[in-house]
Amino acid sequence: MSAYRIVALPGDGTGREVMAEALKVLDVFQVNGTVKFDIRVIPCGGQHYLETGEQWPEGSFEICRDESDAILLGAIGWPDARLPNGDVAGGEVILGLRSGLDLYANVRPVKLYDGVNHKVHGKYKKIWDSSLVDLVMVRENTEGLYHSLLRRMAQSAIGERDEKLVIEKFPGLEGEVRWDPRPISRMGSERIHRFCFDLAKRRSSKFGTPQSVTCVDKSNVLRGCQLFRKVFREVSNSYPDIGAKEAYIDAFTMWLVRDPEDLDVVVLPNMFGDIATDLASVLQGGMGMAASANLGDRHMMFEPVHGSSPKHAGMNRVNPIAMISSLQLMLENLAIRKSDPTLEFYGNVLQEAIAQHLASEGPKTYDIGGNGSTSEVGDAIAARVEGLLKEANV
Ligand code: IPM
Ligand code: MN
Repeated sequence: MSAYRIVALPGDGTGREVMAEALKVLDVFQVNGTVKFDIRVIPCGGQHYLETGEQWPEGSFEICRDESDAILLGAIGWPDARLPNGDVAGGEVILGLRSGLDLYANVRPVKLYDGVNHKVHGKYKKIWDSSLVDLVMVRENTEGLYHSLLRRMAQSAIGERDEKLVIEKFPGLEGEVRWDPRPISRMGSERIHRFCFDLAKRRSSKFGTPQSVTCVDKSNVLRGCQLFRKVFREVSNSYPDIGAKEAYIDAFTMWLVRDPEDLDVVVLPNMFGDIATDLASVLQGGMGMAASANLGDRHMMFEPVHGSSPKHAGMNRVNPIAMISSLQLMLENLAIRKSDPTLEFYGNVLQEAIAQHLASEGPKTYDIGGNGSTSEVGDAIAARVEGLLKEANV
């Protein structure tokens, strides 16, 4: 059987350290299992830009587009690494791929594992039982407030010129004005809502309990959000077995923290999704635990929700679990896309290894109350994967 082609983009700062741990775990599957992975590592990001004057080597976008089955991304962003036009250096990688590969669903599971304390208040105080937090936030990933930035980055990734800056007059505003339009389309809304109802359907059969989709927007005041919600209602009609709920983003932030057990799949426009998923991470033990998948109809990219955390970089101390869980999402989604039961099994093995590790006395990083290092956590999870594979006799 031929190998799955994986592109690894470590990126900046701690992104490089957590990527090393994910590749360590992937290697255990490679060595002990039957499926082969052909892994290509491409340097990229803001630091790479400062060192070389380019965000990634020429041709990298094409490799991601034409020669990969899945992309793994560490983190992008470095202090003072800005393009001449003020955009974030490395944006061509993260945003160029999201837009250029049409990765319209940014899927961010929020799950509290046994053995991990939430961070809503107090340092590491546990009040909830882990079964109360198991939801999936889905951020629309190609339009909304990010639309023009995404387009600029995708154009630059495929070698087109930047869009010209549009100067407009805004009545009542004097002096210099910069603005970001926030377009939301029917097509973009329809595909993300369908994606969410299909996901809720899969979760219903997995958990044996009916799931719901909650549409979060600001349709009481904003036109784009009114279209987003209108299309949500239309799509929900074709899924009579899945609950359809609605919330405004302001009140939603309160409900998210107060009653997360009421939520299953949550769909949000781009910027609201960006903000609300960082907030949601406190329910699962912080950003060190938050994984994500960027999915389109043809391509997929997996990355931790956290950034490059420059102040921790090079210290072997950040939590690699968000990245390793992103690898888990890769195995799970690649299995679905390629109809490969072995990959599905690997996805379950990694899920189990992460859960067992977190419930154990094994090393944990400082952010979840331990004093272990990045690589010790990676080693411990890799060892559990190996053990589980041997137990299953593969
Ligand atoms: C995220 C990040 C990115 C975003 C940045 C790094 C461009 O915050 O993935 O949530 O704004 O989408
Ligand atoms: Mn973010």
